[in-house]
Amino acid sequence: QMESSELTKRVRKVKDQMGTRLFLPGHHYQKDEVIEFADARGDSLKLAQISASQHEAEAIVFCGVHFMAETADILTRDDQKVYLPDMRAGCTMADMANFTQTEKAWEQLMSDFGDTILPLTYVNSTAAIKAFVGKHGGATVTSSNAAEMIQWALTQKERILFLPDQHLGRNTAYDLGISLDDMAVWDPIKEELMYVGDVEDVKVILWKGHCSVHENFTVSNVLQIREKHPYMKIIVHPECRREVVALSDEAGSTNHIIKTIEQAPPGSSWAIGTEMNLVNRIIQDHPDKQIVSLNPNMCPCLTMNRIDLPHLAWSLESLAQGKTVNLIEVNKEIAIDAKQALDRMLARA
Ligand code: 13P
Ligand code: SF4
Repeated sequence: QMESSELTKRVRKVKDQMGTRLFLPGHHYQKDEVIEFADARGDSLKLAQISASQHEAEAIVFCGVHFMAETADILTRDDQKVYLPDMRAGCTMADMANFTQTEKAWEQLMSDFGDTILPLTYVNSTAAIKAFVGKHGGATVTSSNAAEMIQWALTQKERILFLPDQHLGRNTAYDLGISLDDMAVWDPIKEELMYVGDVEDVKVILWKGHCSVHENFTVSNVLQIREKHPYMKIIVHPECRREVVALSDEAGSTNHIIKTIEQAPPGSSWAIGTEMNLVNRIIQDHPDKQIVSLNPNMCPCLTMNRIDLPHLAWSLESLAQGKTVNLIEVNKEIAIDAKQALDRMLARA
């Protein structure tokens, strides 16, 4: 207790000292002890946009994961520096697609389908993957605009390659009326395309990646809730598998989940399938509603949780002392191509 109140004071001190020269965005999945200091809270799209609009900020200390800090670096001015309080705060999903694998996949897919594919990548990907996509005319997507972006992409080319989250890609394409038979999966380890229908009919090629947090919500979790609490509504993030989304009442981005619960009538009951810190915060914010995690074991994102109060205090104090620690600096050439992919999304989102 003592120690955390001491750390709290130290964080406040640097924040007061630096004022608007410092900006601290915090993703909804961050711990309470960190989110408390965030100048803006949001999902990945909102945080990307907001970081780009902080004209006075010299330093952006990103409370989220590595790919989010990279995106902030790409979208902000050169003289604005982005820091990540703990360099180990990566994302297992983003790590499932690397540049070499993507080039190999592209080569194979080009030989199978010719120049008929537009690549799209979920923002949960490294800057190098965003650059690859930008260079090939494609765009980034987030969980709140994936449907619009897939629709747009299919006006540009006959088919899309969707990186790196197969579930967001599949769930969104399915909602747009694309049959599961017209979706194929590219396995970057086996380097092969898996499909069920006719290969010429393939419209959506899904990269075989997933979120290790959202994959923990299962069909049996849904069935247990249905049995124990038949009146409970189930809402999940589209990073959950298709079967889970299909059996739920609703699916949507982090923002969509927050808004849905806010607008739900008092006394209503909900099981939520998303990251633990956010579910706990929603529970605290709505004492008038019965809310549980869809998976009773709760599902933390271990890398999001790397950012804690000690790391935040250390990184802010280093900054105040003029030390450069944990600077996130995307290579210039990569940043230019990646920005194209982000700008194509921001122009439409
Ligand atoms: P959103 O913030 O876009 O809903 O994404 C969820 C997520 O997994 C972030 O890492
Ligand atoms: Fe990555 Fe999933 Fe964690 Fe988001 S919740 S940072 S997608 S591992």
